[in-house]
Amino acid sequence: MTDEKPKGVSMDTDRDDAADLTPTVTLARLYEEQGLLDKAASIYKKLLAMEPERAELKEALEAIEKRVAGSTLQHEKFDTKTTLDHLTGWQRVIRERKKMLDQNHEKRQKILVIHGPNLNMLGRREPSVYGTSTLEEIDEEIKKTAEECGMSADTFQSNREGDVIEKIHEAMDGYDVLIINPAAYTHTSVAIRDALLMLEIPIIEVHLSNIYRREPFRQKSMIADVATAQVAGFGKEGYTIAVRAAANMTHKA
Ligand code: DQA
Repeated sequence: MTDEKPKGVSMDTDRDDAADLTPTVTLARLYEEQGLLDKAASIYKKLLAMEPERAELKEALEAIEKRVAGSTLQHEKFDTKTTLDHLTGWQRVIRERKKMLDQNHEKRQKILVIHGPNLNMLGRREPSVYGTSTLEEIDEEIKKTAEECGMSADTFQSNREGDVIEKIHEAMDGYDVLIINPAAYTHTSVAIRDALLMLEIPIIEVHLSNIYRREPFRQKSMIADVATAQVAGFGKEGYTIAVRAAANMTHKA
């Protein structure tokens, strides 16, 4: 028996090296040992073509064919199992992630923003003093900024003092910060001041204009000493400044 080595045989070549070499049992076994079952089988077939009666060649070929079939089956089983394991794993990750998101959503700090009288007319109301943005646009900015800070914001506007007061009562439960521009009531309303005195959450007073540079009657705020902080003179930016400040106050930014 010749002792040829399958020189030049490599796993990644497409060339059929077996075809170049003299087919021998030794060569077939070497291919078999290297796991090159196709090449081993092709050699056994060539040998069988020359000597069809050699039983050990038939047996060797059958054994290889079984190994090929088995490894294909095993490979398929492995793939399906691995895929299922991956999917089950991902399902668990998704479930846990969703639970975390839901919990965080519930835990999100809530801001209530109250706008007093005439602020529903923003955009059309003295634009040189109050700017050209509408209240709707400002509310959108407020909500967006709150989201960015990991919070949520509800907004409310009324031209009636009683409605503003009742909304402040609502802030007593379920809100973490109140941002309020009482508009003209700033300078007149003891009732709004009293309502604010009941709150235990931070209160941020906002004015679009710098009330201290305006008519003397606007320079007095009935709520300034009740509020935690005041933002005035930044135009609509005052609200987003207040939202960011609220986030810092509640350590949820
Ligand atoms: C205001 C100032 C108030 O004096 C005025 O009555 C308003 C708006 C402001 O945002 O600048 O309505 O609160």
